Amino acid sequence: MKRIAVLTSGGDAPGMNAAIRSVVRIGFSRNIEVIGVRGGFRGLIEKNFNPLLPRDVSGLLEKGGTVLLTSRTDEFKSEEIQEKAIENFKSEHIEGLIVIGGNGSQSGNFALSKKDFPVMGVASTIDNDLWGTDYTIGFDTAVNNAIQAIDKIRDVATSHARSFIVEVMGRDRGFIAIDSAIATGADIVLIPEVRFDIGKIIKNIKEGMEKKKLHHLIVCAEGAIHARDLEQIIKSRLDIEIRVSVLGYIQRGGSPTRFDRIIATLFAERALTELIQGGTGKVVGIKDNQIVLIPAEDAVTKQKDINSSLYKIIEEVSV
Ligand code: F6P
Repeated sequence: MKRIAVLTSGGDAPGMNAAIRSVVRIGFSRNIEVIGVRGGFRGLIEKNFNPLLPRDVSGLLEKGGTVLLTSRTDEFKSEEIQEKAIENFKSEHIEGLIVIGGNGSQSGNFALSKKDFPVMGVASTIDNDLWGTDYTIGFDTAVNNAIQAIDKIRDVATSHARSFIVEVMGRDRGFIAIDSAIATGADIVLIPEVRFDIGKIIKNIKEGMEKKKLHHLIVCAEGAIHARDLEQIIKSRLDIEIRVSVLGYIQRGGSPTRFDRIIATLFAERALTELIQGGTGKVVGIKDNQIVLIPAEDAVTKQKDINSSLYKIIEEVSV
């Protein structure tokens, strides 16, 4: 292989830039020309291609977001569009593609590889919801962003003896919620994977008040219930001072952590190596501290389980 392309797709995630840098620089070291596709799969359809050299990716390790830009597009589900993308590659003598992204993005990987175009994926989404990998690029930074924000909210909660509901991202999964709840000492966590009982939440708060707890901190995943709705329910049943904070996109931005920079560099190197050696239709992730290759079909169709022991400990530790 002499010429490959790289794109970022779906929600941006801190560490995507570090992965782009790794593909470009390691590609250069191995005499592979790397073409950056701007704007995700849309850029692929519009032939928005730009060659990338080592100096073009300077200063990227510490930068959040993605310099290649990204998009979410349903268009790419169409076989006609997929064939057009392959034609676009062929006309530019591009022999393979690296897709940096999460679930939706790796469906594009699966679709193109089924059409015999070589593609390798790099697991990257703040939601950490890709089957087969313990971590995806961006998750660690997003959780740390949430922790920093919740620690600040706790100062207010304690000072005013006021309870808080903090809503975190994660789409329809609770990975960000569980980790940020444990790390901030939240009393209650609500995640989409476990049906919650409002009666139990009220009982928990009442018991806490009897035990002279100054406040309660509830972390809720956006996919479980919206914080504002939960606030109304709690207020209708309890006379307590309660406030809401929806963390939103601050979780997704900012400089990646050490962990995200390192896995981004390693995942991208492995994806490039596999692509050159004829690998296709796989996603690079990490399992039990080992870099692994996950069939793209499994990564996007199978459901990753939450760590139930982490979930359970939140209740026990918040006595
Ligand atoms: O997938 C990452 C994510 O930030 C989710 O946690 C969230 O639900 C979603 O993207 C928001 O999507 P958008 O950026 O399209 O508003």
